[in-house]
Amino acid sequence: MKNVLVIGSGGVGTIAALSLSLNRKANVTLVVRSDYDKVKAEGISIRSKTYGSIDGWKPQNVARSVTEAAELFGPFDFILLTTKNIPDGPMTCEDVVRPAVSPQSVIIMMQNGLGIEEPMMQEFPDNIILSAVSLIASAYKNGVVENPGKDHVTLGDFRAAHKCSLPGTRDAMEGFIEIYRNPDQNVNYIAIDDDCRTTRWQKLVYNSVFNVVTAILETDVTRCQIAGLNDSLFRPAMQEVIDIAASEGVTIPKDTIERFIHIGDGMFYSPSMCVDRRKNQLIEMEVILGNPLRIARKNGVQTPILSVLYQLLKVVQFKTKEATGAIKIDPKDYQYNSDDYPNL
Ligand SMILES: *[C@@H]1O[C@H](CO)[C@@H](O)[C@H](O)[C@H]1NC(C)=O
Ligand SMILES: *[C@@H]1O[C@H](CO)[C@@H](O)[C@H](O)[C@H]1NC(C)=O
Repeated sequence: MKNVLVIGSGGVGTIAALSLSLNRKANVTLVVRSDYDKVKAEGISIRSKTYGSIDGWKPQNVARSVTEAAELFGPFDFILLTTKNIPDGPMTCEDVVRPAVSPQSVIIMMQNGLGIEEPMMQEFPDNIILSAVSLIASAYKNGVVENPGKDHVTLGDFRAAHKCSLPGTRDAMEGFIEIYRNPDQNVNYIAIDDDCRTTRWQKLVYNSVFNVVTAILETDVTRCQIAGLNDSLFRPAMQEVIDIAASEGVTIPKDTIERFIHIGDGMFYSPSMCVDRRKNQLIEMEVILGNPLRIARKNGVQTPILSVLYQLLKVVQFKTKEATGAIKIDPKDYQYNSDDYPNL
């Protein structure tokens, strides 16, 4: 029996916790922050393409915080992190996991974005840190998880791309697959990905363009396309991501742009960053766009479109921070001294 902590009880975290507990090879603790009392009392209702309809589902253990989880149910063999990754927000992911990390813990980052492993590796140099890319479509709202897409996960060794793999990493990946993969092979998909860096860059071709533009405009992808953005913005912006990847030696398959242009045909789909913005929540702008642009600067790649989008996202994030009280603006502090005004 492996002891597993799942941090984040949104659509992705809940489905992962469900899959792990169904196999009875893991004792699962789920950290539930905002709806703790509701989940503890009534459980969660699942409407899942992969796992079916279940009412009142609960993992073995539920905790209010990572600290409480570590005290009551630790130490953990695996820590699965499924929260948003917002280094410019109130808490970094390193701060989030720290109370639960013990020497044997394998940290699995099931999150979007690029370069997310670097601060984690610095903070926990002796722990195995895995990349998990989830292609699931799943959302949690008021005690109900709607999951219309099949559960599909690929696991990789983050340290391999940095040429500093730790011994035991392959065993750790196989161990996690063993407890996660449903015995019926057709139910869910989880496998090792020997090139998780390329997988992450490829997903970024979608996220750093469609998530970003739809978040700025608060408009779904299909409406943006009908309004004329395919050639003027989407295709050239995706090409910029592919150019940055190439500067790092990562080759993105040629058909990626056309695949992503058509992936949501007729679906009027709103990517997660657009949904976060509509809910007045902070967006993952640094791991989805900031980090790739830092790489572009370092390697001398031109990114005229993405750079403008990034500046606009800064204002989106700023407005959310102001609306939620994280930033306070006093207009008095910003008055020009009239003597400074140029004569117009
Ligand atoms: C799961 O964890 C809880 C809390 O640590 C413990 O009480 C319980 O016995 C464990 N279950 C199994 C099957 O190991
Ligand atoms: C943009 O792409 C969408 C999705 O393929 C398509 O429906 C639409 O016709 C395209 N619009 C233009 C102007 O190319």
